[in-house]
Amino acid sequence: MSIWRTKSIEQSIRDTDEPGHRLRRDLSGFDLIVFGIGVIIGTGIFVVTGRQAAENAGPAIVLSFLAAGAVCALAAMCYAEFASTVPVAGSAYTFGYATLGEFVAWIIGWDLILEFTLAASVVSVGWSEYAGDLLGVPLSVPVGDYRMNVGAMAVAGALGLVGMMGAKLSGRVTAVVVAVKVGIVLFIIAVGAYYVDPANWTPFVPPAEPVPQDVQSAGDRPLTRVLLGLEPTSFGLWGVIAAASVVFFSFIGFDIVATTAEETRNPKRDMPVGIFGSLTIVTILYMAVSAVVTGMRPYPELGVEAPLADAFRSVGADWAGTLISLGGVIGITTVILVLMMGQSRVAFAMSRDGLLPRGLSRTHPRFGTPYVTTLLTTAAVVLLAGFVPIGALEEMVNIGTLFAFVVVSVGVVVLRRTRPDLPRAFRVPWSPVVPALAALACLWLMLNLTVVTWLRFAAWMLLGVAVYLLYGMRRSRLAAPPGRRTAEEV
Ligand code: ALA
Repeated sequence: MSIWRTKSIEQSIRDTDEPGHRLRRDLSGFDLIVFGIGVIIGTGIFVVTGRQAAENAGPAIVLSFLAAGAVCALAAMCYAEFASTVPVAGSAYTFGYATLGEFVAWIIGWDLILEFTLAASVVSVGWSEYAGDLLGVPLSVPVGDYRMNVGAMAVAGALGLVGMMGAKLSGRVTAVVVAVKVGIVLFIIAVGAYYVDPANWTPFVPPAEPVPQDVQSAGDRPLTRVLLGLEPTSFGLWGVIAAASVVFFSFIGFDIVATTAEETRNPKRDMPVGIFGSLTIVTILYMAVSAVVTGMRPYPELGVEAPLADAFRSVGADWAGTLISLGGVIGITTVILVLMMGQSRVAFAMSRDGLLPRGLSRTHPRFGTPYVTTLLTTAAVVLLAGFVPIGALEEMVNIGTLFAFVVVSVGVVVLRRTRPDLPRAFRVPWSPVVPALAALACLWLMLNLTVVTWLRFAAWMLLGVAVYLLYGMRRSRLAAPPGRRTAEEV
């Protein structure tokens, strides 16, 4: 039994035609861009920006966005090459299976659960805060010693049902919401520009300030700083880098475009269009929004909860603040929806390969969607968002995502060596230099996340190894002799 066994690309593609486990192909390149923007623009820009500008980077948060966007662009090239070569549901998981072997594939799949399920939960809680703000009542209620976030549970549950009813319906809903969301962002840029006082942009990179030991424990410091034995500081160049690893959250989602390759009409052309299109648009929007917001108010005064709305209220434009909150509530819904779809597709692919129970990968007879994994994902997100205080866990989402990017970048180089014959509609330029840069850049951002994030990440991954050894290793379809396989697949 070899944990390094790989699944051939031909087999991966053949599996997508298996009756009862087949997804419908009806997404176009434009659908993918809309889909990408739908999941990328969310809590990140609406919330995280303000906090990082106020605490870590000042106006140079614009550079943090540029840096994070550049890292994503490097990784996106690798994703685009893979997705245009292996058009099968499951994203990095499938890519890993074809190149680095089953064990690595499982590890990525397990890691993507962290990204998608946790991100969907974090974002649902963010949605609930915005919604509560708009309605003027908090949407979480005390239950004994806990708080139950009813708003987050309701939005996650409703969107899970929408996702189950099919990619096309979700696509239409997404298109309307994306239009509202992009409209609000453009509104912030245009109206905000009017209130900008360029004096707020100086100093652009605020000088480093020491952080007292009692304010920040070692666990809350970036791993790099602890490893290098540096004094804890905020702002300065290190602050800009630390902020980049956190605002990276705002870019998460372009990789999910790749998970829908199997539902795309012409993946070879549409994948690169979808991934690069959405990434380029949001990077420009983020840089513009963060420049405007830090220009409207001195950075230490930026609100940390609803910074965009607050910035407008602070200059007396309350009406604009309310409009932005409304846009946030509408806009964030698609992020949750697409993250949950991403999760259900990865679990679907893992189950089809036998690494998770096979029954999970049944598709719905009418909607053609992986309804079993969708229902399970929805249940998990509803419970997490409803009961777990997850504010601090967004860094976990980042570390999980960056790890997947590292593996994908390495996988590109491996696949070029092992399968040079495969047609590739999109090729990363200057391989292996660009993939190596992508992997190193992602690793660097990972290392700038906090120590406690690394410890939690390690614990989750160890659990994943145990599950693989106890279940997936034996139940994998690649492990089953052909005779036994048919009986198990029913
Ligand atoms: N990029 C997504 C957001 O910012 C996860 O909400």
